[in-house]
Amino acid sequence: MKLSEQYKLIKFKDLGDERGNLVVIEGDGMDIPFDIKRVFYIYGSDSTVVRGQHANRYTEFLLVNVSGSSKVKVDNGFEQDIIELNQPGMGLYIPSMLWKDMYDFSADSVLLVMASRHYDETEYIRDYDAYIAESREAK
Ligand code: TYD
Repeated sequence: MKLSEQYKLIKFKDLGDERGNLVVIEGDGMDIPFDIKRVFYIYGSDSTVVRGQHANRYTEFLLVNVSGSSKVKVDNGFEQDIIELNQPGMGLYIPSMLWKDMYDFSADSVLLVMASRHYDETEYIRDYDAYIAESREAK
């Protein structure tokens, strides 16, 4: 499958009014394709830091820069795309088995991540060559 069909940029409902903005993200196929089991957020990473550098065998993710900006490089072993996240109402859906790097964090970046599974280190592939081998084997 083409990389551009694997990840998705999703725009969420903004129920803002004169009091300010309110963005809603519902799981289970409503706004995003999975049920949310875990939430974490990354902040205080600066523009020199590269995070991620792994693929997950099972977990799907949704990434939202609720403040500031960052870039995400996704890689399926054949193609790579770079997506800039800089809007609190916009999320990047990443399916399982895509390699991902997060970098170029602005000083005010708060990167909110929603995940379809609980944390399990054994489903992480942290070696790029091993990822390539395993993703090709699965085809
Ligand atoms: P790491 O995978 O390096 O984060 P990133 O994907 O942003 O590069 O995680 C840092 C540490 O936190 C590592 O020891 C694993 C641990 N961790 C958890 O215990 N639970 C979690 O949900 C996450 C994302 C990480």
